[in-house]
Parts: sequence; C-alpha cells; structure tokens
Amino acid sequence: MTATQSKPATVIEISRLSTRFGEHIVHNEIDLEVQRAEIFALIGGSGSGKSTLLREMILLQRPNAGSIRVLDVELQNISDADALALRQRWGVMFQHGGLFGALTVKENIGLPLREHTRLNDSLIDEIATWKLAMTGLKAKVGEQYPAELSGGMLKRASLARALALDPELLFLDEPTAGLDPASAGEIDQLIRQLRDRFGLSIVMITHDLDLLWQTADRVAVLADTRVQGIGSMSELAQSDNPAIEKFFAGPRGRAPQSQNSKSIGSR
Ligand SMILES: Nc1ncnc2c1ncn2[C@@H]1O[C@H](COP(=O)(O)OP(=O)(O)O)[C@@H](O)[C@H]1O
Ligand SMILES: [Mg+2]
Repeated sequence: MTATQSKPATVIEISRLSTRFGEHIVHNEIDLEVQRAEIFALIGGSGSGKSTLLREMILLQRPNAGSIRVLDVELQNISDADALALRQRWGVMFQHGGLFGALTVKENIGLPLREHTRLNDSLIDEIATWKLAMTGLKAKVGEQYPAELSGGMLKRASLARALALDPELLFLDEPTAGLDPASAGEIDQLIRQLRDRFGLSIVMITHDLDLLWQTADRVAVLADTRVQGIGSMSELAQSDNPAIEKFFAGPRGRAPQSQNSKSIGSR
C-alpha cells in the first residue's frame, strides 16, 4: 500500500470478545471500534478489565473468544512475523513509563530504532532528538537519566519513546496519573496535538476526568463484563445507566466550565 492510498477508517475492531480467568468472567462478548485519528478512552472501575483489554489489543495477552482486528490485521492466530511487523505500527506508553534507568533518555528513545531498524547511530540520535522535540522536551534532556526527570518530563520521555517508530496508533495507560495539575494539563494538550498534527489514533485508559473532558472524542465505559455505553463525555453524562452515572456523580464529574475552572475539577 502506498502512502497516498486511503487507510482504513477503523483502526481497531473488537467483536464478541470474551475473557475469563478460571471462573471469573472479565469480558463477556464485548464489541467496540476505534476510528482513525480519534482519541478513544476506556474507563471503568478498578478490576473492570481495562488493562486486560489493552493488553489483548497489543498482543500481550489473548482473549478466550472473539476477534480483535488492529490496523486491519486479525490478532487471533497471527504469525510471529506479522506480529513483529504490527508491533512496529503502534506505540505504547505504560503507566510507570518503563524507561530503563541505566540508559539516558536519548538511548531509551533510540532502543526501538536499534531493535527494529538498521539505521546508523547518528541518524538514530537525530530521530531521538526530534522525538524529544515532538513531546516538548529540549535536546539536552536526552543526555539525562530517567531518575533525574520530573514526573511530567518522564511521561513526555516515555511518550517520545512510544513515538520512536512513527506509529499510526498510540496506546496510553493512565498518561496523567501522579502528575500535578499543571503538568497534567500540559499532557492533555500534548495528546491533542499528536492527534491534530500527526493524525495519530489514540487509545487511552484513564480515570482523569479533566483529561477525558479535554481530549477524548469517545469514551467506552466498562462495567459488569460489558461495555455499558460508548459516546462523547457529554453524551455519557446524560446517561441514566447507573454503571455510567457513577462516573459523573459529584463535582468531579462535571464538565469543566472553562480552562480556568480546571483547578476546581478533579485535579
Ligand atoms: N493474569 C491474571 N490472572 C488472574 N486474574 C487476573 C489476571 N489479570 C487480571 N485479572 C483479573 O481480571 C480482572 C480485571 O483486571 P484488570 O484488567 O487489571 O482491571 P482494570 O485494569 O480495569 O482495573 C480483575 O478482577 C483482575 O483481578
Ligand atoms: Mg488497570
């Protein structure tokens, strides 16, 4: 396929997906779709199966039944070669960053490039610096070690690494967890920019209501083994499904009135 050919409008297509651990049913015939260039969020209470679903989407775990297509590739029975190729088309930012402490930030960002490409060191260095810039970090941060960075910078650095291979699809697990309100607000903005400027499709797990109201195009609510609802935050806020209502109950669930009111929201 050439770059000018149209890409499929649906980047993830999940149908009748079921997962259980022994007797414990986590997902019962879940269906959902993620569209290209959308910011899609997965929310739900602790233990509702968000992380498991994310792990299934990125080939870290297999569901018991059902189909998952990512970027038009069916994950069930995928060959090792196809899995390797597919993994290079998405980036993942894990909740705790997952950067190697013994490597500088730039070396961390360069890792996927060293692993998956034959680019020479100076080119890898150049790309890593560019990825730092994409995430709003100065080039000199690349020389630092993860332990020397603030929480917000660490999130940016792990985002830069997730972007190393120019992915079409980005998976983010709790991208703002543990950040102060100002840094979290900057991450909101960065996520929107990545979508707006580079057309990235983004799937994120979060319970940060500010992040959800500020960035998510559509949100799926997981509860009681099913997707209880999918829609924009405004649409979900109107729902009378108790499993959805509870996310919007209380002052933390209200839509921010304006950017200025963010500090009295959930952050
Ligand atoms: N490897 C596993 N073995 C047994 N149970 C698991 C495993 N992974 C997850 N679970 C269970 O599946 C449920 C969903 O977990 P998880 O996807 O981590 O939820 P969430 O991310 O929404 O908090 C939980 O009850 C959890 O204990
Ligand atoms: Mg989880």
